[in-house]
Amino acid sequence: MDAQQTTQIVILGASGDLTSRKLLPGIFKAVRQELFPGKIQLVGVARRPWDDDLFQAHLDEHVPDQRGDEPQAWESFLKSVRYVRTHLDTDDDYKDLRQQLDDLAGERVHRVFYLAIKQDLFLPAVEGMHAHGLLNQSDGYTSRVVVEKPFGNDLHSATALNTALLNMLHEDQVYRIDHYLGKETVQNIIAFRFRNALFEPLWNNKYIETVQITVAEDIGMEGGRGGFYDSAGAMRDIMQNHLLQILSLIAMEPPASLAANDVRNEKVKVLQSLRLPEMSPDAKNHVVRGQYKGYLDEKGVDPASKTETYVAARGFIDNWRWGGVPFLLRTGKELPKRFTSVDVQFRMPPHSLFGAPNDCFLRPNNIRLRIQPHEGIDLGFEVKKPGAGLDMQVVKMDFDYDEHFEEPLVEAYQRLLQDVVNGDQSLFIRSDEVEASWRWIDSLRTVMDDTSVYTYDPQTWGPGAADQLFDECEGRWVKH
Ligand code: BG6
Repeated sequence: MDAQQTTQIVILGASGDLTSRKLLPGIFKAVRQELFPGKIQLVGVARRPWDDDLFQAHLDEHVPDQRGDEPQAWESFLKSVRYVRTHLDTDDDYKDLRQQLDDLAGERVHRVFYLAIKQDLFLPAVEGMHAHGLLNQSDGYTSRVVVEKPFGNDLHSATALNTALLNMLHEDQVYRIDHYLGKETVQNIIAFRFRNALFEPLWNNKYIETVQITVAEDIGMEGGRGGFYDSAGAMRDIMQNHLLQILSLIAMEPPASLAANDVRNEKVKVLQSLRLPEMSPDAKNHVVRGQYKGYLDEKGVDPASKTETYVAARGFIDNWRWGGVPFLLRTGKELPKRFTSVDVQFRMPPHSLFGAPNDCFLRPNNIRLRIQPHEGIDLGFEVKKPGAGLDMQVVKMDFDYDEHFEEPLVEAYQRLLQDVVNGDQSLFIRSDEVEASWRWIDSLRTVMDDTSVYTYDPQTWGPGAADQLFDECEGRWVKH
């Protein structure tokens, strides 16, 4: 992209929470640090009867902690933000949008359209913009569309959405976002695995016994999300995207290069190799769902809802590297702590000179990738306790981002927005990845629909039944 060029970032649904909490702070930081090529013009589009001033005042009030360090820079950035009011309902609305966007920046401009709107509006919005030439690419000018999650509700709807989008856009114009891929520690999974000769030789079923991936949250339905969440549930809200994306990075083969399609080719193979839960005769024993007490009283939630606020599953990747290794995936709301981690547990050595450990769960070696908070990596191993006998103890070596690096971790949305403007799709999900994840999730849902919905007390670790997902002595859920 030409450094002299302007990119118009157009946020559809700009009056919503995502714009003020994530997108604006991300764009502001990247502009301040001159991380975008060329010039950025930010345009918010929404229905509210605002003009530039009112939109700017709204952002000033709702964007967290901006004034702090650089009040002047924030003021001048804010003044450059534009607002276009439209309902995006009729053909005329799109005609008018086109006119206003051209008036603001001219026709010869790169464009990024960020769909921060409800899922059922994705397609009409793209159709409207397409009809008015906003998605045309010519003379080196690009037009890209960022699609927020949820991308479909199941395989059928995701495939239909992909087909419809790809009738109007090329795959390289579509940026399906999963903000977890923008987190430094998630990107570091590839670096950790493929830059260090130490771990990769052990990264297979010969040495690894189980892999646990957890996205635990201590919040419930804050921000009035009950209505949306009730139609999604933990499986669609987190497992289909964040958990499966982390899993694909943990389990993928080394890519030919770090080019977007090389990485995504390997990720999709993992997702396609996930054993469909329906195929296992004991599938029902491989998934546990729960709902926290009090969920049914949340605003927007159906009082008879069976929606899961917790789900844990035992999955298998049927390929040569991972055959037989259980991947234990878990996510829940109203758990005691907020943390995301990957816990890789290694097998016992083939022969023990030191007798069996007292606790059959105990394994000397594990690696914990702390995705958030307290980002870092722990490596567990056993040492001899000082003294006459040969007693052993598990100890750990740890690496903390905070301790080692002065610069703070880049916020996920900032990184992802930079990548969209730069045309780098590595951290975005390709159509076949989305479809492969839904295929597995749909199959798991079919099995789950036959299982009980356990209730659990808020601020506890979810249903006790989830402990049964481990075979005897295989391990237990981490609760750090
Ligand atoms: C979102 C989910 O994708 O991720 C939310 O819709 C969840 O339910 C959020 O709270 C968690 O993101 P983070 O970055 O706070 O871990």
